[in-house]
Amino acid sequence: MKIFSRHYCNYVSVLILFYCIILSLNKTGFGLANSSNTATPVYLNNQTFTCHNLTNANQRIMCFTTPGLLKAIVDAEQLARKECSNQLEYERWNCSGFAVITPSNVTKYATAETAAIHSLMSAALAHVVTRDCRFNGMQCECGKNTTISSAGNQVMYGCSSNWEFGMEMSAKFMDGKEKHGVVIGDRQLINLQNNQVGRTVFLDVNHKKEPTCKCVGVSASCSAKTCQRGLEAFSVVAASIKDKYKKSCKVSVKASALQPHQCNSSSISNTTLVHTLSSPDYCHKDISKGSFGVQGRLCDPAVASKSCETICCGRGHIEFTKDVEGKCCKQVGCCGVQCNDCKRTLTFYACR
Ligand SMILES: *[C@@H]1O[C@H](CO)[C@@H](O)[C@H](O)[C@H]1NC(C)=O
Ligand SMILES: *[C@@H]1O[C@H](CO)[C@@H](O)[C@H](O)[C@H]1NC(C)=O
Ligand SMILES: *[C@@H]1O[C@H](CO)[C@@H](O)[C@H](O)[C@H]1NC(C)=O
Ligand SMILES: *[C@@H]1O[C@H](CO)[C@@H](O)[C@H](O)[C@H]1NC(C)=O
Ligand SMILES: *[C@@H]1O[C@H](CO)[C@@H](O)[C@H](O)[C@H]1NC(C)=O
Ligand SMILES: *[C@@H]1O[C@H](CO)[C@@H](O)[C@H](O)[C@H]1NC(C)=O
Ligand SMILES: *[C@@H]1O[C@H](CO)[C@@H](O)[C@H](O)[C@H]1NC(C)=O
Ligand SMILES: *[C@@H]1O[C@H](CO)[C@@H](O)[C@H](O)[C@H]1NC(C)=O
Repeated sequence: MKIFSRHYCNYVSVLILFYCIILSLNKTGFGLANSSNTATPVYLNNQTFTCHNLTNANQRIMCFTTPGLLKAIVDAEQLARKECSNQLEYERWNCSGFAVITPSNVTKYATAETAAIHSLMSAALAHVVTRDCRFNGMQCECGKNTTISSAGNQVMYGCSSNWEFGMEMSAKFMDGKEKHGVVIGDRQLINLQNNQVGRTVFLDVNHKKEPTCKCVGVSASCSAKTCQRGLEAFSVVAASIKDKYKKSCKVSVKASALQPHQCNSSSISNTTLVHTLSSPDYCHKDISKGSFGVQGRLCDPAVASKSCETICCGRGHIEFTKDVEGKCCKQVGCCGVQCNDCKRTLTFYACR
């Protein structure tokens, strides 16, 4: 009986010890299953997306340990893809196959399109993190305060957009995927350059935006103002990246450095997108390269920037009409306007 109870005691104390270890692991943050990131499912293309979906270990760990990051990366990918499609709607490549955090056949090859995708995603992540700074559980403070005196007025910067925080998070996440080994190969160098271009464009565009100011205090003189630097619309960033995509530079990699190969500038700057492979023509369907062909693409023979000849690769186009619902407005009397729902028949053109 005595022996039995001693065994029993040992058994209980071992159990208690285990229980304590489990508790302390949870307290020190090893109980990742309950982190805010995995608790709320995030949706991407109607599928759930969690930190587990990231294939790169650096990115996965960062996702698990950074509050708000999971939502930010999914939002950033959707924003980047949408703005890419808006900018390139009437180009041969219309951003089909755009994906960064899920597999894509386009980004398998280091083409100019891949350069555009990586820089857009890198810029979009900086944008979204800056926008969501202090929300969604993101741990971030107001942007830098600067005090400037202008014409005797004290100009103070209040809680400004923290671009630096957005840039830092974007760099850590995007570049973290490339820096997983000791040796950085050619493809990693290319990706790192293009990621960095996205962030540089993001910062350049935002530096150009005028701060918004308001007068402080009750006096009408507006002797003191508080100003905040804001966040420029992402479409402005995307338009700038589009220009850089058109001028993407073909490079070769020699001794871990990028050498201009077929390129209009003699050196690679921090705003030069780079690629090593020529693009597919995107005229023909080749799913393995993310090229979906031009059949069905919309164009307009009367508008140079939407040229059917160019978009359709000379295969010709068809004309069709479609009823579009909208508002029809007419003037009523001297000063009123009356609007009604109405249908209008519009003409469209699409590639054969
Ligand atoms: C932790 O997760 C479990 C299920 O995985 C859930 O039942 C529990 O309520 C969560 N606890 C907290 C504090 O979120
Ligand atoms: C996503 O799911 C919703 C409802 O389940 C559906 O209405 C919508 O069409 C789906 N979107 C896509 C892109 O599949
Ligand atoms: C994420 O992984 C889960 C489980 O493997 C899968 O069901 C889901 O489709 C993935 N999400 C995306 C967006 O690929
Ligand atoms: C900037 O100023 C505002 C208002 O004075 C303050 O709340 C904020 O904490 C300051 N931010 C930093 C980064 O010092
Ligand atoms: C990019 O290069 C220019 C000129 O060399 C420099 O002034 C600028 O600070 C650089 N920008 C970044 C974000 O590194
Ligand atoms: C280089 O510049 C010429 C003339 O401006 C232009 O036609 C050509 O497409 C450019 N090439 C590249 C790779 O940007
Ligand atoms: C990628 O290419 C393979 C063939 O190489 C194809 O089976 C697959 O569906 C493609 N993936 C996508 C997302 O288009
Ligand atoms: C892009 O082009 C493909 C065909 O190449 C088409 O299926 C797709 O709908 C287009 N995407 C957009 C957003 O217009």
